[in-house]
Amino acid sequence: MVMRALCRFPGDPVLRQKAKRVSSIDGSIQRLIDDMVETMQQTNGVGLAAPQVGVPLRVVVLQMPGEEPVAIINPEIVKRAGKREVTEGCLSIAGYAGEINRSVSVTVKGWDRQGKPTRVKATGLMAQTLEHELDHLNGVLYIDHLESQDKLHKVEAGTGEM
Ligand code: NI
Repeated sequence: MVMRALCRFPGDPVLRQKAKRVSSIDGSIQRLIDDMVETMQQTNGVGLAAPQVGVPLRVVVLQMPGEEPVAIINPEIVKRAGKREVTEGCLSIAGYAGEINRSVSVTVKGWDRQGKPTRVKATGLMAQTLEHELDHLNGVLYIDHLESQDKLHKVEAGTGEM
């Protein structure tokens, strides 16, 4: 597993592109997943989307505190419920955090790292992270959801970014 360089907003246009569906699982996709997990762990993140390491494919990884990493390929949100205000930071926008609204729970379907259909139902931080990473696949960043610039502040680079 190799740590990959993180793309940063606003310098890297890949962060604003719509990522492409993965058509089939092969060794390069599994290597990408392994490298994304390594990169997420080295940066103390809770989630990472492939465009954040410069790969415009629909692949995300997540790791909730104390749990094993999860990869989802070609993820789609099939259900969302509730709304709550959260504080969010992105590994690609270092040194900032903002308050935005996210769903309380989401259901996501996609493929696991072997290409088998998978369905994940999540609440709280995991639901927030899934929405954040799926936004990345569509070129959307959390700052796009800010109601005003007052909701964005500078923070020390930390943990729990996504
Ligand atoms: Ni992010």
